[in-house]
Amino acid sequence: MSARETIQPDLLSHEEVQYSDEVPDVVEPDADPAQRWEIRPSGYPRSAEERFEALQELKFGTVFTDHLAHSVWTPGEGWHDRRIEAYGPITLDPASSVLHYGQEIFEGLKAYRYADGSIRCFRPEENARRFARSARRLALPELSVDDFMGSLIGLVRTDVDWVPDGEGTSLYLRPFMFASERYLGVRPGQFVDYMVIASPVGPYFTHGFKPVAIWVAQDYHRAGPGGTGAAKCGGNYAASLLPQQVAYSHGCEQVCFLDAATSSVIEELGGMNMFVVESDGSVSTPALTGTILEGVTRASIIQLLLDAGRPVKEREITLAELQDGIRSGAVAEVFACGTAAVITPIGRLVGEGFDLTVADGAPGGTTIGLHRQLTDIQYGRAEDPHGWMQRLA
Ligand code: COI
Repeated sequence: MSARETIQPDLLSHEEVQYSDEVPDVVEPDADPAQRWEIRPSGYPRSAEERFEALQELKFGTVFTDHLAHSVWTPGEGWHDRRIEAYGPITLDPASSVLHYGQEIFEGLKAYRYADGSIRCFRPEENARRFARSARRLALPELSVDDFMGSLIGLVRTDVDWVPDGEGTSLYLRPFMFASERYLGVRPGQFVDYMVIASPVGPYFTHGFKPVAIWVAQDYHRAGPGGTGAAKCGGNYAASLLPQQVAYSHGCEQVCFLDAATSSVIEELGGMNMFVVESDGSVSTPALTGTILEGVTRASIIQLLLDAGRPVKEREITLAELQDGIRSGAVAEVFACGTAAVITPIGRLVGEGFDLTVADGAPGGTTIGLHRQLTDIQYGRAEDPHGWMQRLA
């Protein structure tokens, strides 16, 4: 009998599970957070030749490394059995709660190979903190920053040869957590798995740094007040898939969501935050209202702009205002940002009854400059004034 089956669901209520109100603190600078992660090497790692072959012409999210990080949680033991083990299919009971009620969260972050051979990651502790906030919202047990970092370090050290070094490539790390308890009652799972998988990637958009067209969804919403919009949970992405298909059918690459209450305020794209650059140089981005994901890239762009003495307004941006600004020329640039896509220029804004080209449709100077500045920091080509890059291996 597996541990997943030993929990007696009827004897446990939600109240018995301890969920801390505090987001765990950062790891001690001198400690090695990977030491608690036992390495169990794969019995079937790919050969150097197979790895070399797999690392050619990388796309996004199609190739995976030889290992994964894995830990499990039960109310009695908390997080335990931390290990780095062979990557492979997992066994889930068909009654596992995640399959029925979607109790799942994830993160996305990138590790880069530097010229000196070290592997560095962009602001991983920010992802760790957001992961803990997402866990709290989805009634999952929080994972400490220390454990989050330990899992990344343990996995990256083990699969270090999988970190690519080509232009625009990186190792995309995908931590995720889900309720795997065998129980159909609607309450938080009493058996939870945490895993990290790693995927050597190229650019998210196969066409690279080219402007995309976005479709403004007026009939569908991603999140509502009090919902899970600020959490990084699979359900938010599932909700974006149908409107995303509608976007494709209109010749657009991405979908932009409006607020659910009034259908008039810009929120975010399916998996990216948005910025608007006005012709006077000022920059605006939708304020974090609780329905928008608190993007690490978004926060970093705001910081870079402030460093350059450029004002950034986190505010309400209405669709009408954006349409008027594009028509009048008051809006000079629009771009999207996220870990996977970094910074992506938006060349067209399309919706029912309108099709607007932003300026001349080409990437603007602010978008190009921020993309270069951010990727130069991430790839170690420029100074890192805020200490954002953290060494993993
Ligand atoms: C990311 O940018 O890492 C995301 O999570 C977006 C998407 C790939 C889900």
